Amino acid sequence: VKISLLNDFNFPSWVKHTKPSAIDDLIGYASQPDFISFALGLPDQSFLPKAVLTEVTNDIIENEIDAFQYSPPLEELKTEIVKLMHLRGVSCDEKQIFLTSGGQQGLNLLVTLLLERGQPVILEELVYPGILQSLKPFSPEILTVPTDLKTGMDVEAVERILKSGVKPAFIYIVADGSNPLGVNLALDKRKRLAELANTYGVPIIEDDPYGFLNYSNQLPCIKSFGGENIFYVGSFSKIFSPALRTGWVVVPECFLPLLVSLKESFDVNIATFGQRITMGLLRKNIFESHMQILCSAYRERRDKMILSLNQYFPTEISFETPDSGFFIWVNFIENINTTLMLEKSLNAKVSYIPSQSFSAIAGAKHTSGMRLNFSYSSSQQIEEGIKRLAETY
Ligand SMILES: Cc1ncc(COP(=O)(O)O)c(C=O)c1O
Repeated sequence: VKISLLNDFNFPSWVKHTKPSAIDDLIGYASQPDFISFALGLPDQSFLPKAVLTEVTNDIIENEIDAFQYSPPLEELKTEIVKLMHLRGVSCDEKQIFLTSGGQQGLNLLVTLLLERGQPVILEELVYPGILQSLKPFSPEILTVPTDLKTGMDVEAVERILKSGVKPAFIYIVADGSNPLGVNLALDKRKRLAELANTYGVPIIEDDPYGFLNYSNQLPCIKSFGGENIFYVGSFSKIFSPALRTGWVVVPECFLPLLVSLKESFDVNIATFGQRITMGLLRKNIFESHMQILCSAYRERRDKMILSLNQYFPTEISFETPDSGFFIWVNFIENINTTLMLEKSLNAKVSYIPSQSFSAIAGAKHTSGMRLNFSYSSSQQIEEGIKRLAETY
């Protein structure tokens, strides 16, 4: 009944081609008892600094009742974000910060601002599905470049496209702890990409939700090497909590009025309560100690997953050890189709996202990879989940 009703509507063509994402399908499984989810990019909320969070939240409820009202963006939060951007190697000021209801909204806003219908964009072959969702209404021409699993995006391939005279609306990249591949873009490639953006006048959207979650050396973000046409998207979702719906973009000051009016069409207010809590937490000077707790816990889980993969999948797979973020990307050496394998693994109560779900171009060749999340499950669950996975293929 539902399908025939949908067919009766005269939707624009991009809507007709919209399918439910694998991620939406898998959200429901995560809450089943004894289910082990390696599918979603969830932070572990048990690491939230509960005592400080309680203090900050109570203080807002007692003393700042307008936190529950429509209100303008919080200037003091922008000041805190300027300090965080310094830690990512970027000098900017409050006038270049635009607060958003999370990183995904930052992406949506920038895509809407920069992309003309049908224009080309440059993406990696395997990308964060959220950017594809943002692109869909504009039916862009998607140009893809490969990714090296040790050094990240093939920047020479980007250069070849630009040299050929193509003028893309932007290049999209997650340079730290890439989603889905887990790789960090090498330092020399960051510099080169920033140079290319400058030389060819092509914007870069640098999506950086994992930039503070490093397990060895933290690299400066691409924005730190370039100028005004590198647009940085930040988020507190993985640092504190996705429920705060608080993120930001760093853009030239002249963009702010455009973003203000565009955002009004997406949502009228910023998540005021979330912003206040975020600011309260940052002002308690807990950022560094909190990041140390997260990084050491997630590093331990990453190591456990690597150990378990080596133990339970002796030779059939290959993977790298990610230095940042939430994901390990696993490739099967034999020609295993991980989309077909998913049903069996769900029956064994363990999930992952198959490589096909990340293809920038539908029907593309990547069928034997899987993205495994290591941030959400305990070490014990990680070992049990990997064992289950190894038994299902
Ligand atoms: C690469 C990437 N960008 C953006 C987001 C969106 O995050 P949020 O809207 O919660 O800030 C995510 C979330 O998983 C992500 O992995």
